[in-house]
Amino acid sequence: MDKLKVMTIFGTRPEAIKMAPLVKELERRPEFDSFCCVTAQHRQMLDTVLDIFQITPEFDLDIMEQSQTLSTITSKCLLGLEGVFQQVRPDLVLVHGDTSTTFAGALAAFYQQIAVGHVEAGLRTGDKYSPFPEEMNRSMVGRLADLHFCPTESNRRNLAAEGIARGVFVTGNTVIDALGTTVRGDFKFTTEALNQLDYRGKKVIVITCHRRENYGEPMDQIMTALRRLALAYEDQVELVYPVHLSPVVQEAAHSRLDGLDNVHLIDPLTADEMHNLIARSYMVMTDSGGLQEEAPALGKPVLVLRRETERPEAVAAGTVRIAGTKGSDIFAMAADLIDSPAAYAVMAHAVNPYGDGKACRRIADGILYHFGRTDRMPEPFRS
Ligand code: UD1
Ligand code: UDP
Repeated sequence: MDKLKVMTIFGTRPEAIKMAPLVKELERRPEFDSFCCVTAQHRQMLDTVLDIFQITPEFDLDIMEQSQTLSTITSKCLLGLEGVFQQVRPDLVLVHGDTSTTFAGALAAFYQQIAVGHVEAGLRTGDKYSPFPEEMNRSMVGRLADLHFCPTESNRRNLAAEGIARGVFVTGNTVIDALGTTVRGDFKFTTEALNQLDYRGKKVIVITCHRRENYGEPMDQIMTALRRLALAYEDQVELVYPVHLSPVVQEAAHSRLDGLDNVHLIDPLTADEMHNLIARSYMVMTDSGGLQEEAPALGKPVLVLRRETERPEAVAAGTVRIAGTKGSDIFAMAADLIDSPAAYAVMAHAVNPYGDGKACRRIADGILYHFGRTDRMPEPFRS
């Protein structure tokens, strides 16, 4: 029987981190002919991931330019992918999550009537503009996809509520598979400042912030709250903030946080550095999606710098709280976790609502089942 030609498509840092273990799984299995195409919507932040996981894509559209608009990204991906699909004619295209690459990848495949599999399917806030444009990207991919790999049962229910019930598998999130390969007790950081931090004597807080819906006033409120925190707890906390390369984010962070001794504004970290930093930290403050999944698995409390989340599982488990984007609320919630051992203990326990490290195996098995290569459906992930 011919091998199944499966093409994975991704373009940004989080997609790459979460698709990397799946690329490896497809490469490992004899039933698949695996092709990897990157759009390079991100360049540097993508390349470090490819490097860490030792992935050499067969195709690289190299579309990144500084401060691109959503229309530019989408149209460049669509046009570039057309040629790639004509050349390879995959049986299945796999896209991940909710970026512009994800949406364009699914649409380009649909235009050529190639089956689409959506990894990390079924996350929803129900608010069209938040996160922007991710909520609509993932909703539209949900309509275009033939296969839906939901991390959790609640993601599956979101799809069911939209009438999507065929080709749905509950697999866990592939990010938990990735975490299993990166976190090590004896890890040495290449970013020397991180080796020097006093992880026992100080409360090391990991910060990230990059979302488009936070641009402007919300991001200003967030940065102001972080400044206040750094000053109020000068002797107790170290804020480590690897700043996203977006010029908007760079400006927002540096204009408010430069010049404080206990705030470390550093370059984006490689995925293995980030995972090991979280593992050694006191807590995380972030508007990132991925960090909301990783930190709970490592037993670290998370304050979410957004008004809502499409990842309610860790909120229900008690390790994640929505801090919002109002400076005074963010400061108060962080201060509570710094001041009160009891409040901290309530949140700081390891939970794994997002996966058991076997998501990629289930996805590969689900693909084989869909294409009639096996009678056995993968067992769903249960948290
Ligand atoms: C994108 C995704 C977002 C995801 C985020 C992960 C969309 C619309 N947004 O947002 O869902 O959460 O990635 O980080 O798809 N830049 C560089 N080098 C890089 C990466 C980015 O210089 O390696 C700069 C460029 O100026 C680029 C800008 O950052 O134009 C913004 O990148 P872009 O991919 O448009 O949006 P993100 O905010 O990164
Ligand atoms: N990450 C990283 N280096 C950094 C910041 C984040 O490797 O400097 C990782 C993080 O551990 C997670 C992913 O990038 O796996 C999250 O990506 P991002 O916050 O850019 O996007 P989102 O998850 O919000 O879509």
